[in-house]
This record gives sequence, structure tokens and C-alpha cells, in this order.
Amino acid sequence: MNILSISGSLRSESLNTRLLKSLKASAVHPISVSIETLHGIPLYDGDLEESSGVPDAVVALREQIKQTDGLILAMPEYNGGMPGVLKNALDWLTRPPEEMGPTFFNRPLALCGATPGGLGTALAQAGSLVVFRQLKVDLFPEHLRVSGANQRLDPETGPDEKLAEQLRKWLVQYVEFIQRNRG
Ligand code: FNR
Repeated sequence: MNILSISGSLRSESLNTRLLKSLKASAVHPISVSIETLHGIPLYDGDLEESSGVPDAVVALREQIKQTDGLILAMPEYNGGMPGVLKNALDWLTRPPEEMGPTFFNRPLALCGATPGGLGTALAQAGSLVVFRQLKVDLFPEHLRVSGANQRLDPETGPDEKLAEQLRKWLVQYVEFIQRNRG
């Protein structure tokens, strides 16, 4: 089973990308987790779309989403909401509109987020629900929230022991959710 994960942060030292790397490392065969970022996706601009179509980076990401068994989004929290780069990518991914269904409808989607702060990106995740309802995804109800992530996700040694266990369990539960989604 192949799961695609996308980091909502462009930062090279991103805690959210680090969280995805830890999830990838905790995946056990036959589960595999790949990681993508949103580099190379321009700001949505209807004029650009009209003159040049959907950018190659968006088309490539969309193909990956369509082929994946599950989709994990790692969402940083900016001012209590989803970061612009992630919302921007979601907007492009729904263009042209007939692509929204095959890309998102009923797709088993899991949300996770890491922050140095204390709320584990809960506000961003909660606020994003309006968007994901619009996209008609099948949302895994167990959102993963990592607070104090600058201390718990070491760039060298990875997650602390408790977090590593939490990630393993969360991934197993998400895989079970994907299997239920497939019926
Ligand atoms: C933040 N940060 C932040 N954190 C949080 O828990 N709640 C918030 O509302 C905000 N708001 C916010 C706004 C802006 C503009 C920035 C740049 C940052 C801190 C944020 O969680 C922190 O920078 C993370 O490290 C960002 O995620 P990555 O890039 O490490 O994945």
C-alpha cells in the first residue's frame, strides 16, 4: 500500500516535513510512505491558467494523488489557520473544476501537524475542515497533533520514544481506515 504525504511547509528545516520523515520511517512493509513538497507551484492566477494552463508541478502532483492509496497532509499553523502555500496548492489541484472529483472525492485523507507551540496546530486543522468538506474527501477523524515539536522531533535522532510510538499507532489506524474506505 502506497501512501503519499505532502508537507505544507517549504522550509528546509521544516518540523512538518520532519514529522513526515518520521512517519515514513515508521511505516512497515507492505506500507510505504513517500514525501512530496509544494516547491515550484506558483500562486494561483486565473490569467496564468488561461494563458498557460495548469502548471506542470501541479499536474505532476495531481497524478501522484490520483495513484495513491492514501493521502497525508502535514499542515503547519499560521495565525490560527492553514498556510497560504497549502491552500494555494489545493486551489490549483481543483483546476479545471472537473479535476476536483477524481483528485479528491472520497479520497482517504489524514491530517497531521507539528508546531513548537502548545496546541499542535489544532486551530489550523479545525479551520481546514470547511475546505476538506468542499473537496468531499473521506477524512480520517484522528488528526495527529504534535506540540513542542522543536523538542520532540530531533533533526538527527528523530522523534522521542513516546512520539515514535504514537506515530506507529496512528499510521496503523490510518491504514485500517483506508482499508475500510475501500470496502
Ligand atoms: C507561525 N507559527 C504558529 N504556530 C502556532 O502554533 N500557531 C500559530 O498560529 C502560528 N502562527 C504563525 C504565523 C506565521 C506567519 C509563522 C511564520 C509561524 C509558528 C509555526 O508553527 C512554526 O514556525 C513552525 O515551525 C512552522 O512549521 P514548519 O515550517 O517548521 O513546518
